[in-house]
Amino acid sequence: MRWIFLAGIFITFEGIDGCGKTTQMRLLAERLHREGISCVLTREPGGTPIGDAIRSLLLSPTSQMTPQTEVYLYAASRAEHVQAVILPALMRGDIVLCDRFYDASIAYQGYGIGKLGGISPAFVEAVNTPALAKVKPDLTFLFDLPVEVAKKRMKERLGQEDRIEQRGEAFFARVQEGLQTIFAQEPNRVRKLDATKEIEEVADEVYRYAKRIIEEAGSTR
Ligand code: TMP
Repeated sequence: MRWIFLAGIFITFEGIDGCGKTTQMRLLAERLHREGISCVLTREPGGTPIGDAIRSLLLSPTSQMTPQTEVYLYAASRAEHVQAVILPALMRGDIVLCDRFYDASIAYQGYGIGKLGGISPAFVEAVNTPALAKVKPDLTFLFDLPVEVAKKRMKERLGQEDRIEQRGEAFFARVQEGLQTIFAQEPNRVRKLDATKEIEEVADEVYRYAKRIIEEAGSTR
């Protein structure tokens, strides 16, 4: 259930590393901006000073932590982000574009770490429920990319792979399975897009879906 006083629109961008979601979020914000529609752009983990400090801990290749700690740290960053940034913006009526959110924890920790660390999607959900404060995206883009292509893109990027990116193809295959499961469970919220297509083509699709939900919200909120 969504709090009815949230006048804003919450759109999230998900997919395995290398899928192009960050570029697509920026392109959408620029296009809306040209039409005079401004958005709050944010990301997870991060989005607040505490969240950025947690992000450094989570992504540093030298950090060592148990799978449970990893789940709690992502949720801690999210709790701060929801209370300090997302909820206030939605209450003001803003459009919030967020580079990853709760679905990433279900996919990466719940499915990706999965049985290996004794973690389950249900455990991840239980830890995150209080952090979410009932905030749910109105629309989620899932940028779908085969794991081999994503892994190749991660390796080609400048700089060292972060602690999560260093995980192998088997991990990312489980993450992918998690993302597809989320899509199958909530096809109305989650729009799956083929991320192997040209950037401009994907950007047009993102724009069309986002514009539709913005216009619908304009008539009902
Ligand atoms: P980013 O590369 O999209 O900025 O995200 C940072 C990494 O954190 C990426 O490898 C995905 C991972 N991640 C999780 O494992 N769980 C989460 O809940 C979130 C938000 C991100």
